[in-house]
Amino acid sequence: MTDPTRSTTPAPPAGARTDAVRRHDPAARGFASDNYAGVHPEVLAALALANGGHQVAYGGDDYTAHLQEVFRRHFGPTAEVFPVFNGTGANVTALQAVTERWGAVICAESAHINVDECGAPERVGGLKLLTVPTADGKLTPELIDRQAYGFDDEHRAQPQVVSITQTTELGTCYTPEEIKAVCDHAHQLGMAVHLDGARLSNAAASLGVPLARFTTEAGVDILSFGGTKNGLLLGECVVVLSPERVRALPHLRKLSMQLASKMRFVSVQFEALLAGDLWLRSAEHANAMARRLDAAVRGIDGVRVMRPVQSNAVFAMLPRHVSERLQKRYRFYFWDESTGEVRWMCAFDTTEDDVDGFAAAVAEEMAAGA
Ligand SMILES: Cc1ncc(COP(=O)(O)O)c(C=O)c1O
Repeated sequence: MTDPTRSTTPAPPAGARTDAVRRHDPAARGFASDNYAGVHPEVLAALALANGGHQVAYGGDDYTAHLQEVFRRHFGPTAEVFPVFNGTGANVTALQAVTERWGAVICAESAHINVDECGAPERVGGLKLLTVPTADGKLTPELIDRQAYGFDDEHRAQPQVVSITQTTELGTCYTPEEIKAVCDHAHQLGMAVHLDGARLSNAAASLGVPLARFTTEAGVDILSFGGTKNGLLLGECVVVLSPERVRALPHLRKLSMQLASKMRFVSVQFEALLAGDLWLRSAEHANAMARRLDAAVRGIDGVRVMRPVQSNAVFAMLPRHVSERLQKRYRFYFWDESTGEVRWMCAFDTTEDDVDGFAAAVAEEMAAGA
């Protein structure tokens, strides 16, 4: 075990005392998820800054008011931001705001809203999901057409929104042109476009363009903007880009149990992330660590990288018994139990040494398993 006193976590402020006891090794990191990472020290500092005194609850605070301006700098003058607790909540709230009771959502079969939200869009949002299999997690106009029909049919849930994920659940990244093609097509058919941007910063870092280029300028109407996976304690935002297509967001946020009473502490984290370049620095770093890992494991006999590495994830195939042994040393998940494909995620705090150590462990276990 590494020495916990070598932590990079800031010490509690002088004079603060706590009865809590540290119960983990703060220097231990794995490749399971960017959610496994802690809080970026700059975000922790911002939380401390927002503490003390009383502020109006439920979003009437000064931090949330200022956040509107911060998001408009990135997404343009029509953007309106609604902080929420988590990504599932952001997605379910946003999707309800662009659909009616008889509405349906077209999405990739691999979409988080379809596979990883416990049916919340269906049960909490009351929405029918119309899914399409994809090769790489990305929808195209042609793929959308597999579900975009029956607009006059009272028997069919009505496709009213297309939901895409950037970066996708498979670690791939839409180009701005690909998103624009999706938006143009959806709009021609009278549908809105929602973007699940749990890793939107990783996409901007990967593409090397501003956030607006592949959202506002491409025609996205509403998006879920992720913070937790990029160094926040918790929090995501619903960002409205086309107010004319969106209704009742404040009511839907509360109805969906996503209205934080102490919202200043969610908002100040996003200010810390987006007022400067923390969002980009952290995402660029996580992506760079994934590229380093990709390069390191590609050279190992018997390891196959399965998908383009365009964000902070590496998907790989190696013998199942080797993965299982490796899991005793480092945390990571099987992405597809049936095929044995694994997913290795990097985070803002993944170090080069972490990557090199992990790649060496992969090589050792492959050699031992041969
Ligand atoms: C693509 C995507 N969307 C949304 C989420 C948000 O999920 P949560 O509700 O856990 O914050 C995740 C988290 O894994 C995700 O990967």
